[in-house]
Amino acid sequence: MTLTELASETSRRFQERYGHAPLSLVAAPGRVNLIGEHTDYNDGFVFPMGIERYTVIAASPSALRRAQIFSADTNSEVTIDLESTVTRGQPSWSNYMRGVIAGFQKLKIAIPGFDALVMSSVPMGGGLSSSAALEVSTATLLEAASNHRLDPVQKALLCQKAEQEFAGVPCGIMDQFTSVMAKEGHLLLLDCRSRTTELVPLTNPDLSILIINSNVKHELTGGEYAERRAQCERAAQILSVASLRDASLPMLEADRARMEPLIYHRALHVISEIARTTEAAREMRAGQWSKLGQLMYASHDSLRDDFEVSCAELDLLMDLARKLGERGGVFGSRMTGGGFGGCTVSLVETRSVDAICQHIGAAYREKTGLEATMFVSRPAGGARVLK
Ligand code: GLA
Repeated sequence: MTLTELASETSRRFQERYGHAPLSLVAAPGRVNLIGEHTDYNDGFVFPMGIERYTVIAASPSALRRAQIFSADTNSEVTIDLESTVTRGQPSWSNYMRGVIAGFQKLKIAIPGFDALVMSSVPMGGGLSSSAALEVSTATLLEAASNHRLDPVQKALLCQKAEQEFAGVPCGIMDQFTSVMAKEGHLLLLDCRSRTTELVPLTNPDLSILIINSNVKHELTGGEYAERRAQCERAAQILSVASLRDASLPMLEADRARMEPLIYHRALHVISEIARTTEAAREMRAGQWSKLGQLMYASHDSLRDDFEVSCAELDLLMDLARKLGERGGVFGSRMTGGGFGGCTVSLVETRSVDAICQHIGAAYREKTGLEATMFVSRPAGGARVLK
């Protein structure tokens, strides 16, 4: 479904529910990260892009000082009182929106009452930042409704805080930043320390970004993510640096004896991944796709063996792609996002996309009994007001 189709469907559903056409329509994309995983909360680099999958919100002002929001995907509704401080509540999806509303309240930005309907084409829980797309689309709606534009970095940080405090995930800045700042036709090389970005074009029609959803989601992830983050902080402490961004491989080796093996391996992933990420951006700029692909495989291996956030299904999808190799049209492949399920991202030749999908889909089905879902996406632009 294109953004235009999704937007008109959201509008139609709004009209059906509230009896009139919406006054505003906003959209924010999901994201895929090409490389640079679990580096954002270590002040490192990430290399994501927006994807052509969006969360769209249709809304109109209401006379009452409350937000009435219907989620078409989950078929559930929430009413949020805007007169008092917004807190966590049910249903669980509403927390991403509650968190953003609370962020605006903290800034003392008056939010007028509104009726809204939300629809999304970002697969939920697939590691493509469906939650960031909901947070950022909400912030975009509130900016329009309150007539108060936030600075884009401040907007991303407000949404990150919503995720941390209302969904309980101590996430980094990558997802919300990308959903706000993504640029059509470009990857973003984001320096998570300075929060500055460099745009790297990806417009060659011969090259495609293929996203494959394993359709598995291993639970326990909340705790595991926080645990990884704490382990990285521990490693930085032992190395006497503010964050692993300031550490190098020689420093790590020099202090190896002072670390538990597990902490060493966590740090090894982060330090090597930060280096791979800036190198990958260079290779992308130079059109060196084979070299870029090798960095993606190395990233996967490191996430699987040192950081231990992959799972059997993601390993299988990556292995199938790797075995196809360049002769089969695959330059590189890796798990993307937080891990423990979700998607792989692969850099492939456009003319081989159908054959790759057929091969991987059949082999994955045979080995796991599961259906993988696959799609290609060009780099999409960030959040915007459509109406
Ligand atoms: C999740 C988090 C991000 C980032 C990735 C791993 O998507 O929300 O901040 O840490 O995991 O790279």
